Amino acid sequence: MRNLALTCVFAYAALSSSTAVGQVPAERPELFPGESWTFHEKNIKTGGLLIYRHEMQTKEADVYLLKEDSDNGTNKKQQLVRRSADLNRMRTVAGQPVDSGWFSFPLAAGKTWQAKERWPNNQGYDEVTYEVVGQEKITVPAGTFDTIKIEGTGFWHNETASTWAMGRDDKIAIAIWFAPEIKNYQGSKPGGQALIQRTFAQQPPLIPHKVDGFDDITAEENTCLDCHIHKEVRGQKIPQIKESHLIKPVNADAPQVHNSRWQCNSCHVPQIDAKPLVENVFKGNAKK
Ligand code: HEC
Ligand code: HEC
Repeated sequence: MRNLALTCVFAYAALSSSTAVGQVPAERPELFPGESWTFHEKNIKTGGLLIYRHEMQTKEADVYLLKEDSDNGTNKKQQLVRRSADLNRMRTVAGQPVDSGWFSFPLAAGKTWQAKERWPNNQGYDEVTYEVVGQEKITVPAGTFDTIKIEGTGFWHNETASTWAMGRDDKIAIAIWFAPEIKNYQGSKPGGQALIQRTFAQQPPLIPHKVDGFDDITAEENTCLDCHIHKEVRGQKIPQIKESHLIKPVNADAPQVHNSRWQCNSCHVPQIDAKPLVENVFKGNAKK
């Protein structure tokens, strides 16, 4: 599921408190436009591997629209898929919205719920009862995570087959692990998200936009400066770095970044909605 396969967990910019690691109950996560994640789906019977990448596009009436890229080793496909606010798969079958029912937030130990998911060909359905069975540490290619485990048991029923021998119905067992500790960086294009207020005057401001996919900062190259050394780039206003970052006296026409400020990401990190690493009573004093 969403939270299993993200590749890294950064925790520097802990801002608002949320669920403790792996602890039940877990609240519903929120997706933001531009967020993306990658996950693997392995067929235990055939050994086949499908690699998916999802990117959140927009939210319409409580349903997320995601761009899905999939790759099974021979074929690459791209399509739009839908997820409910609970991150369940949404399909339209015979004109009716169908919800996979994988999650029902908040997740609390012992909680159960039922889902009936009609097949895309409208010839049958899966009927599953889910239960939050507890916590488990699991390891996937992206790392080891404290998760909440959900188990589903039920059956599928093929309405077009009249006998068992024709494959009328059989049992289903599903396990889902949800890792509440994993958070995506928030933000998309510059200008897409409000600035997070600084908590004290000397704090390096958080980066309110996406920085995934930027080249590493090297001695010669610094992508951040493509924008931040300017006041404006292609008509967009840029918060230009000020004197503290520049070689003095500042040459107003061609400002030069001081070497001590070259490695921008040693001080500036993207914003993330994560719990504080340790409980604290710090109160900021920024006037902004
Ligand atoms: C394509 C242009 C562009 C690039 C490249 C870029 N930024 Fe930005 N950045 C912006 C814009 C525009 C804003 C204004 C805030 C917003 O609306 O997102 C901003 C805002 C910021 C802020 C917040 C400033 C404040 O006053 O709170 C920080 C910090 C920042 N960027 C750091 C970086 C770092 C570090 C990099 C490189 C990893 C970088 N930016 C790369 C365009 C860019
Ligand atoms: C040594 C830590 C440090 C490094 C390295 C650093 N910054 Fe900053 N940055 C700060 C602090 C602290 C502030 C807020 C106070 C200030 O302006 O000095 C700030 C402020 C900013 C702002 C807000 C506008 C402003 O000047 O108040 C932007 C934009 C910014 N930095 C971008 C960058 C970029 C781009 C780089 C890399 C070229 C960079 N910073 C490197 C610490 C750093």
